[in-house]
Amino acid sequence: MSERTLLLAGNWKMNHDHLEAIATVQKLAWSLEDAKLDDASCEVVVIPPFTDLRSVQTLIQGDKLWLRYGAQDVSRHQPGAHTGEIAASFLSRLGCSYVVVGHSERRADNHETNEIVAAKIRAAVGHDLTPILCVGESLAERQDGHHIDFTLGQMEESLAGFTAAELDGLVIAYEPVWAIGTGETATAADAAEMAAAIRQRLAERFGDGLAAATRILYGGSVKADNVAEIVASPDVDGALVGGASLSGPDFAALCKAAVGK
Ligand code: PGA
Repeated sequence: MSERTLLLAGNWKMNHDHLEAIATVQKLAWSLEDAKLDDASCEVVVIPPFTDLRSVQTLIQGDKLWLRYGAQDVSRHQPGAHTGEIAASFLSRLGCSYVVVGHSERRADNHETNEIVAAKIRAAVGHDLTPILCVGESLAERQDGHHIDFTLGQMEESLAGFTAAELDGLVIAYEPVWAIGTGETATAADAAEMAAAIRQRLAERFGDGLAAATRILYGGSVKADNVAEIVASPDVDGALVGGASLSGPDFAALCKAAVGK
C-alpha cells in the first residue's frame, strides 16, 4: 500500500460564478458528510475560477469544511505591470493549496509552451503552492504510438532546471487530450502504463525519493462509475476531474467511489 494520499481534484474550468461556487461547495460538503472521509482516506480539492476563490475561501475557512481549494492557472511573473495576470503570492494569500499548470486547454488556447509552464511552476513553488502539472498526448501521438515519449518529454521540459527539493509535494496529472470532455476515457491499463512511465522517469531525473512521493493523477472523462478502476493501479494516486466535479453531489459520489465507500 502506497504512502501517497489519494487526491481527487475538481477542475471547474470556466464554470460557476461566485454564487454558484458557494452553493456547489456547500452541496459537496453535505454530500460527503455521511462518508466520514478524513485526511487518512483522501484529499478532496475544488479548483474554481479566480473570481470565486475569495468566496470559496470564506466558506471553507468560516465553516471549517474538510476541503481544500486551488487555482486553475498562475502568472509566471512577479506582481507588477502585467495586465490581467494573477500572481502566485495573491493565490497564496487566498489560502490556495494547489495550482494547475499546463492544462491542455491553456496550452491550446493561450499557446503555453513547456518553458512557460516551467516558469509558472517556479512562481508557484516560490509561494508554497503545490503545482498540479498537466501533461498528455493528443490522439495523433497516441495513434502513432509516441504517447509515452511525448508525455514524458512534456514533463521533462516543464520540470527543467528544478531540484528534487524544489519539487517536493509535486502532483502530475496525466490527461490524454483526446479523453478530455469527450466521454472517451483511457482504459485503466493505459492510465497505469503512463503513470508507471512517469514515475520511472521521475526516479531517473530526480531520484527515488521524489518519484515515490509524487502523486500522479489521471484526468479525462473520469466519473463515479469508472474512478475506482482507474485509481486501483498502484501508480495512479487520484483523479483530476472536469465535468463530473461541477455538481456537488456528483463529485461527492465520485470521491466516495474512489475510496470505496
Ligand atoms: P473532463 O476534464 O473530466 O471533463 O474530461 C478533465 C480535465 O480537463 O481536467
